[in-house]
Amino acid sequence: MSTLHQRGGRMTRVIGIVSGKGGVGKTTTVINLSTALMEFNKKVIALDADVKMSGLGLQLGMYHFPFTLNDVLMGKGKLFEALYIHSSGLRIIPASLSSEDVNIYRMKEVLQDQFLEDNIVLVDGPPGLEKNAIATLRVCPEVLIVTIPEMPAIVDALKVISVCRGTNTKIIGIIVNMYKNREVNQISTKEIESTFELPVIGVVPEDRDIKRGIFKGMSCVLFNPYSSASIAYKKIAAHLVGEQYKPPRYLMLKRLFRGLKK
Ligand SMILES: Nc1ncnc2c1ncn2[C@@H]1O[C@H](COP(=O)(O)OP(=O)(O)OP(=O)(O)O)[C@@H](O)[C@H]1O
Ligand SMILES: [Mg+2]
Repeated sequence: MSTLHQRGGRMTRVIGIVSGKGGVGKTTTVINLSTALMEFNKKVIALDADVKMSGLGLQLGMYHFPFTLNDVLMGKGKLFEALYIHSSGLRIIPASLSSEDVNIYRMKEVLQDQFLEDNIVLVDGPPGLEKNAIATLRVCPEVLIVTIPEMPAIVDALKVISVCRGTNTKIIGIIVNMYKNREVNQISTKEIESTFELPVIGVVPEDRDIKRGIFKGMSCVLFNPYSSASIAYKKIAAHLVGEQYKPPRYLMLKRLFRGLKK
């Protein structure tokens, strides 16, 4: 399966952000990685494919969506009608908070909409392997697996990885989220890499600024660009677009100052 759709000579990437366990940080990753990618001058759309338990808009302080992805999947209109722009400039396609059933099998057709052309689309998937989650896995040519460094989450992520391998979905790599610095009772990055036989492309520490950002209705990357989680997301964004991550000057000065004090 090709990972870059070439449409009209322009490149489109549709990347699923998926996990085995719920609550490990998919929505957080979609919001912060999208914002970080925008800093690399990429056209990005964050799309909420969690059509039963949508949370993308809520975590950005956006509550009112008259038309959503759910409506598009029900054939009630076109994808561009479900696009909203956050005050940060981030473009999002939200899902509904309703539990009404949608035709999830239309997702493939929806993701091939010309409207997405020339964008990096980050798809916020439902967790696990229920119907909607499998449908998301099947329609994303590339995925990033999010896990926390704990055994139950890792075991469930393995099940998702095995489905991806069965469908030839390209797994770009693993994002280890909520990593606790100086905590020994957690699975190491090396162990995760050898268990999954996949590269860990980013380690996002547990960071209070994630929740502080949500409280303000914005990404952590915007709320505090220098926080440890923001830096981690910028490094992942750099990896995704094949660019070099350059630490902000402030951080370089801080490190230099620390060095001088020693
Ligand atoms: N690195 C982090 N540091 C601190 N808190 C975090 C971090 N990542 C996520 N969280 C918090 O953990 C909770 C779950 O995160 P999130 O909603 O992104 O998970 P999810 O995988 O999308 O969940 P679901 O499977 O229910 O959709 C949120 O309250 C979020 O603010
Ligand atoms: Mg979520």
